[in-house]
Amino acid sequence: MSNKERVLSGMQSSGRVHLGNLVGALQNWVRLQETYDCYYFVADWHALTTGYANPELMRESVNDLVINFLAAGLDPDKCTIFVQSRILEHAELHLLLSMITPLGWLERVPTYKEKQQELRERDLSTYGFLGYPLLQTADIIIYRAKHVPVGVDQVPHLEISREIARRFNGLYNKEIFPEPEALLTAFPKVPGVDGRKMSKSYGNAIYLSDSAKEVEQKIRTMTTDPARIKRTDIGNPEFSPVFQLHKVFSSKEEQDEVAVGCRTAGIGCIDCKKVLIKNVFEVLGPIWAKREELANNPEQLRQIIEAGTSKARKVTQETMALVRDVMGLR
Ligand code: TRP
Repeated sequence: MSNKERVLSGMQSSGRVHLGNLVGALQNWVRLQETYDCYYFVADWHALTTGYANPELMRESVNDLVINFLAAGLDPDKCTIFVQSRILEHAELHLLLSMITPLGWLERVPTYKEKQQELRERDLSTYGFLGYPLLQTADIIIYRAKHVPVGVDQVPHLEISREIARRFNGLYNKEIFPEPEALLTAFPKVPGVDGRKMSKSYGNAIYLSDSAKEVEQKIRTMTTDPARIKRTDIGNPEFSPVFQLHKVFSSKEEQDEVAVGCRTAGIGCIDCKKVLIKNVFEVLGPIWAKREELANNPEQLRQIIEAGTSKARKVTQETMALVRDVMGLR
């Protein structure tokens, strides 16, 4: 048994992984695996809450997400990697927690109405979608995890997880679940190729699965400072989405160089983009290599998932024995 504190986080398998997911989540997960007892999983049931009408996408994205976990640097010898739907105990705990969760708590979670608005084209007036944060609570507390690395958007979900853990312990008079805490780390915001936040739904993302050609094409066609029309015009890098990406992927020296070059018309936008392309390739190169290796080795991938899932299941079975017991199910 490890005496390191436990960290847990999940990512929905609802499509491809982009540079924003990499910098905002996966690279942090990779750092944490060095010091914590980390559990990382593919939240495929969560993906179903909004993607239930598209089983084809589900089928493709689970393995691809695990491939991206590994390609980003998660090491199955250092952390436990698994797939949510393979561990039925998550669903059992979700069901049991639903007995003690006041409806109002779920209705009040701000992401509930926000996401419904955002995805208006889908019917999200479902029971499963309302229960999204409760399923997430089950995911977390079933491991009795202390820290949950997530983005600020997930803070309301962590808040309800804490409330539910507290309510459960209070009702059954036993400290079964520690209250989990969001582990918020400051990350550079990764803008998309149009300057807005990088997001699948905006169509402005650079994906880990993009080819070198696609990445190059996406960056080459980016808009820059709209006021800089001719090569001889001076520009303001702060108005250029390209420069915003330099802030994430380029060294300080390179950032200064392209900024000065832009302000003095010393370099053109293409020169500036070439530097960015080189640096994005440097990040993606090893990821592409690892993706290819894993794609050619499905048996290895299967074994990694199998081993992680068995290990995680042991923990969930222990927790569920306690839960069933205090709830009178034994
Ligand atoms: N809701 C999370 C997201 O969209 C994914 C998730 C599901 C998760 N279960 C979790 C994150 C448990 C942390 C812990 O990013």
